[in-house]
Amino acid sequence: MEFSQLIQERRSVKSYQPDKEISDAELKALFEAVKLSPSSFNLQHWTFVAVQDPELKKQLREAAWGQPQVEESSVTFVVCGKLDAYKDAARIYKETPKEIQDKVVPMITNFYEGNGQLQRDEAVRSASLAAMTLMYAARDKGYSTGPMIGFDPEAVSKLLKLTPNTIPVMMMVLGHQKDAPRPRAYRRPVEEIVKLNTLDGPGLTD
Ligand SMILES: Cc1cc2nc3c(=O)[nH]c(=O)nc-3n(C[C@H](O)[C@H](O)[C@H](O)COP(=O)(O)O)c2cc1C
Repeated sequence: MEFSQLIQERRSVKSYQPDKEISDAELKALFEAVKLSPSSFNLQHWTFVAVQDPELKKQLREAAWGQPQVEESSVTFVVCGKLDAYKDAARIYKETPKEIQDKVVPMITNFYEGNGQLQRDEAVRSASLAAMTLMYAARDKGYSTGPMIGFDPEAVSKLLKLTPNTIPVMMMVLGHQKDAPRPRAYRRPVEEIVKLNTLDGPGLTD
């Protein structure tokens, strides 16, 4: 699909055909794209927990303010971010030349160690970018998605057995849409969202 068409077509879809399945092979193809997402120092902080089990989806829906799409989608992902992803640096850089490893790995450790706020920011940033890739990859294959933050993170963490170093960044429903989404809502104009040079600078116009 043309990129411009993909951008127009991607919508947050809330209504799904519950009887439609997406095979593991189809999911795997989507994640071959997702894994190419950018992350700081290439630490790839993301893990996607794919919930397909009907009973678990029902419980997940309860933890997500009862939002029906959590249960009716083909798959509901919980996009997780790893707080201590910096500890994976040695493994991630093991194929780079030794002189680079010896410089970069200690640098990454020093940068993140003991800085909980930064670890959390990075987990959220990277997982969110990977989630965006999933939304576009899915739409390109004709599926619909919906990102969601309306859930109780503690309840979700418990249901999915998340460990303390892994946070649920957002949910992402995936499936075949039932009803067409409503017309796209108001978007702030480019002039307002791009400021030249400083925040109080003029807005971008053509
Ligand atoms: C981080 C994030 C969290 C969201 N949480 C929810 C949610 O819990 N429930 C929901 O129905 N939509 C949720 N949305 C969807 C937004 O309402 C939607 O993206 C926005 O209205 C723009 O519509 P569009 O994505 O169709 O362009 C969320 C979107 C984002 C990016």
